[in-house]
Amino acid sequence: MAGEFFGKVAAITGAGRGIGDAIAARLIEEGAKVFSFDLNDPDEARNGVTYLKVNVADPGSVEEAFGSIDREAGQIDVLVNNAGVQRVALAENMRPEDWHLVINTHLTGMHLCCAQAIRRMRARGRGGAIVSIASAAGIVGIPGRGPYSAAKAGIEGLTRVYATETAAANIRVNAVAPGSTRTKLIEQGLKDGSIRGDWQIERIPMGRLAEPWEIADPVVYLASDRASYITGQTLVVDGGWTVQGMVHIADWLVPSQAVPGG
Ligand SMILES: NC(=O)c1ccc[n+]([C@@H]2O[C@H](COP(=O)([O-])OP(=O)(O)OC[C@H]3O[C@@H](n4cnc5c(N)ncnc54)[C@H](O)[C@@H]3O)[C@@H](O)[C@H]2O)c1
Repeated sequence: MAGEFFGKVAAITGAGRGIGDAIAARLIEEGAKVFSFDLNDPDEARNGVTYLKVNVADPGSVEEAFGSIDREAGQIDVLVNNAGVQRVALAENMRPEDWHLVINTHLTGMHLCCAQAIRRMRARGRGGAIVSIASAAGIVGIPGRGPYSAAKAGIEGLTRVYATETAAANIRVNAVAPGSTRTKLIEQGLKDGSIRGDWQIERIPMGRLAEPWEIADPVVYLASDRASYITGQTLVVDGGWTVQGMVHIADWLVPSQAVPGG
């Protein structure tokens, strides 16, 4: 089988559904052997993915998962840190357990998985690629998203630090910061009222949410040899949301139409 990831082994956290599942689909298409580290069973299991029950915030669970990859595949070439959760409350109402859950899942989870992957990639001496999912919410302030925004901004910082620590070993470390993407995470927000779809879409210059594959493609690019000189970067994939400074725009400057479906 051909494909630019033929012979490579990838671990994707949170690949049971949503963006992680879309990334798994693209990497399999390109010939990779894929392991999913997810707390939950997949919505729909994909051929070619080995699903492991893993809590990325738990050091023992992460170590065990990498041990399974050692036994079953003997190498790790790509790590995608994607697992995530959301808890929404204003600072004064944020429960400490929710704060810790969000920070531990996104930021500590990234660190724990990077530590295990980097150790193995360095020892093998063939380089590697790590891509972590940050967020537009780590770049702009959104009320109620304190721990989420802090964790996502932290992911960008950790990306730069680990890029400098591993560049000489040809291990590249990058991040993708998506805007609002059509997954169950967003559905949950629409359901609990923490997101209003029409309000949000109005503020996205492209006039629509992203589809999961539109986030998966840039992740796969950064993980591939085509991005061989890119490290320490965050690629923002948000339909122009974070670069639009003004909310109220004079009528004669409002773009007349967004093209549906891009
Ligand atoms: N959907 C969006 O609009 C959006 C925007 C920006 C960033 N993101 C980020 O993209 C990533 C994927 O989001 P999604 O929208 O596909 O969400 P999702 O809720 O559909 O999927 C997240 C997956 O992570 C898994 N998970 C949660 N906690 C875990 C843990 N401790 N250990 C292992 N797995 C765990 C869940 O079981 C689930 O399968 C997240 O990091 C999210 O913050 C999403």
